[in-house]
Amino acid sequence: MNVNHKCIKRTCGERVEAITLSISWSVHSGSSKTPLSNTLDDHQLISYTGCHSFISLWEYFTRPFFGCVCHRRDCGMLLNETPIFEPSLLQELDWSSNTVPFSPPISPSSPGEGLVLRPLCTADFHRGFFKVLSQLTTTGDVTPEQFTKKFDHMKKSGDYYVVVVEDTNLRRIVATATLITEHKFIHSCAKRGRVEEVVVSDVCRGKQLGKLLVSALTLLSKKLECYKITLECSPTNVAFYQKFGYTASHETYMQCRFPN
Ligand SMILES: CC(C)(COP(=O)(O)OP(=O)(O)OC[C@H]1O[C@@H](n2cnc3c(N)ncnc32)[C@H](O)[C@@H]1OP(=O)(O)O)[C@@H](O)C(=O)NCCC(=O)NCCS
Repeated sequence: MNVNHKCIKRTCGERVEAITLSISWSVHSGSSKTPLSNTLDDHQLISYTGCHSFISLWEYFTRPFFGCVCHRRDCGMLLNETPIFEPSLLQELDWSSNTVPFSPPISPSSPGEGLVLRPLCTADFHRGFFKVLSQLTTTGDVTPEQFTKKFDHMKKSGDYYVVVVEDTNLRRIVATATLITEHKFIHSCAKRGRVEEVVVSDVCRGKQLGKLLVSALTLLSKKLECYKITLECSPTNVAFYQKFGYTASHETYMQCRFPN
């Protein structure tokens, strides 16, 4: 077994280290074109290389080396399964107070066959998180280091509740939405919630996932004691949000954009 791996450490921000692990194609016993993941299972890969985990080997299929963004046990952390917020918050939602009908019935703990609803983690970078977001708006070219730095910032603030739906068979993210809590001095130092970036992958639309995400985040904002929850949407989506009790405000949404 000839596993040629090396860590390339790049300093990212204050403390995060990005490690790229390259494994020579010569690891294959047969054809040099056989994907590594066909030859070895995750467990074997982990034990051969000393990596903590492997993420989306297929993403790098066309490269001369498998470049798994991962972390070795003796290196700093980069992409991992640490949730951006406490997962029990989702599981403990009072789903009985949800006002939107689901047929067939689904819930945060049972979102459908082969699906899981959970907080975002950095490993989702290689599970197509940005691919889903790009169906909503321009995402730009984000590196794992930029993603991790932003994730850490959001997690540290404690105000970002980014949820994802993962297809556990394909290990792909198929939907996401975010609740942000904003702190106020008004209303006795109250909190308000904002719903942002609601998007369901086009191949999974019509399976009630959009409804599940918005219902879950609306209930979560209540649980977090927000005094109100708001969102901005295009006129074509007004009817969708009305299902959850959102009404169009008499106030006008204003913006000032700063071109680069
Ligand atoms: C809008 C979006 C999130 C809905 O997700 P989805 O998973 O396809 O929706 P669901 O299967 O949960 O549908 C829920 C219900 O809303 C309805 N619905 C879906 N999209 C709707 C829309 N744009 N307007 C009105 N109703 C809509 C469905 O008919 C369904 O109705 P029913 O419960 O009476 O059967 C999804 O279409 C999407 O990602 N669109 C692109 C990104 C986007 O526009 N996001 C919103 C940003 S504000």
